[in-house]
Amino acid sequence: MKLFLLGSPYHLSKRLFSSIFSRNLDIETERRLLSLLSREEKELYFAQPRIDRIHSIRNAKSIIGAPSTVYEGDLIVAAALHDVGKAEAQLGVLGRVLATLLHGFLSIERIRSWDGKEGFRKQINSYCLHSKRGAELLEEAGSKQIVITWARHHHDLEEDVALPADIFSVLEKADRK
Ligand SMILES: [Fe+2]
Ligand SMILES: [Fe+2]
Repeated sequence: MKLFLLGSPYHLSKRLFSSIFSRNLDIETERRLLSLLSREEKELYFAQPRIDRIHSIRNAKSIIGAPSTVYEGDLIVAAALHDVGKAEAQLGVLGRVLATLLHGFLSIERIRSWDGKEGFRKQINSYCLHSKRGAELLEEAGSKQIVITWARHHHDLEEDVALPADIFSVLEKADRK
């Protein structure tokens, strides 16, 4: 079975296109989110293009609407910042569509081998490996462990991630909305 760095092509396409076509920022949820972020985390949040900030807020809103847990504030931050690593790829909508297509066709090894390249191949590599880069950025920002762990593993299978099953489930559900 082919391994996917970004999740299955179906879910990836669904997330991509729902992000593209939902244009409105939910100001109220964004305000709540910003009240939970450190200065460094805010910088990462605002470094994202609008399309990713919309995705952040949708994820945060899903957690806010979920049954409460003791981790609630941290879960909102984890859900909202899990894709911050995408910003460095600096891909617009067309580039993301192409990256999504290539991701479905090419092997993981091939995409990883583009790490040392320049230009579009490097951008595709950054986009497809955004989980790793996002976790590094959040580590540098001093984020809580759950925020770093979710960024690093949000495209992995539940059995491969060291998070309680209920926490994994609520975060994964937020990312699929
Ligand atoms: Fe992601
Ligand atoms: Fe996501």
